[in-house]
Amino acid sequence: MNRVLNKTVAITGAARGLGRSHAVRLAEEGADIIALDVCEDSSTARYAGATRTDLDETATLVEKAGRRVVTRQVDVRDRAALQQAFEEAVAELGGLDVVVANAGISPISPDAPVTAFTEAIDVNLVGTVNTVHAALPHLGDGASIVLTGSVAGLMPRYDGAAGVGHGAAGYAFSKHMIAEYGERLAVRLAPSGMRVNVVHPTNAPTDLLKNPAAYRTFRPDLENPTADDVEQVFQRMHGMPIAYLDTSDVSHAVVFLASDESRYITGAQLKIDAGLVGKLEAGFNYLA
Ligand SMILES: NC(=O)c1ccc[n+]([C@@H]2O[C@H](COP(=O)([O-])OP(=O)(O)OC[C@H]3O[C@@H](n4cnc5c(N)ncnc54)[C@H](O)[C@@H]3O)[C@@H](O)[C@H]2O)c1
Repeated sequence: MNRVLNKTVAITGAARGLGRSHAVRLAEEGADIIALDVCEDSSTARYAGATRTDLDETATLVEKAGRRVVTRQVDVRDRAALQQAFEEAVAELGGLDVVVANAGISPISPDAPVTAFTEAIDVNLVGTVNTVHAALPHLGDGASIVLTGSVAGLMPRYDGAAGVGHGAAGYAFSKHMIAEYGERLAVRLAPSGMRVNVVHPTNAPTDLLKNPAAYRTFRPDLENPTADDVEQVFQRMHGMPIAYLDTSDVSHAVVFLASDESRYITGAQLKIDAGLVGKLEAGFNYLA
């Protein structure tokens, strides 16, 4: 308990999935939360977006954990709106110590239009850069910035391979760039006592991954793959015998990076991948 006591943490994409899990875990460890989310469908992702009701539910859960919460419905692509949201929320809660840039989309589908490539980059990469930009004026010595990559950002580049759709290529590119951006930003911010680290989760059971378009991407050999069909592939991908993480597995890492326990850790690329990246680098082809 109290690993981030009285810190104020802003989280983008906080309405559901990993973002909600981070908000609740951080609140349980004593943080007040600024919960930001667009609460709208993306134009290219083939699954429903989060809703205002989802964001309100996150706020309820944070309050149940005994902490304060401010919510704002804002698109991370809109830098001016994001700056205003940070200004208002920070004024209300009295400061800002940690930022978790988590909002993201995965518009993967074998037949995704080319705009899926550009939208993935806009939301995931430009949205992350905007979030950092909007937060920085409010951060100081001891602050922690946690960016959200993916195992897709650490795998050898595969987006030129046959059959890789525009959305998957955009997703992988955005996550590769987030990894590099985090590393360079860490160097710039270190003299001011601020830290930047990137978490790279493998599959977590959220709406982003548990949808028919994702299933078709991971099982191109089947016409109508089911969740069970995909689970077999996900099991084989990992070194450890699991198909999915739990969302809390990622949140535990975020709590550590947000807390002063990691006060001299910066520029890290933290894989939460059950051995996936090492296995792929060793030459394993999960589709074979
Ligand atoms: N689920 C996984 O397997 C997995 C694996 C690796 C990385 N990730 C990353 O974790 C992050 C969270 O994903 P998730 O799995 O919880 O998915 P999710 O779809 O459940 O949650 C993503 C949240 O981001 C919000 N969002 C989307 N576009 C936004 C925008 N323009 N502005 C503000 N908010 C926006 C959504 O409304 C949603 O609440 C993403 O960056 C994703 O790439 C997920």
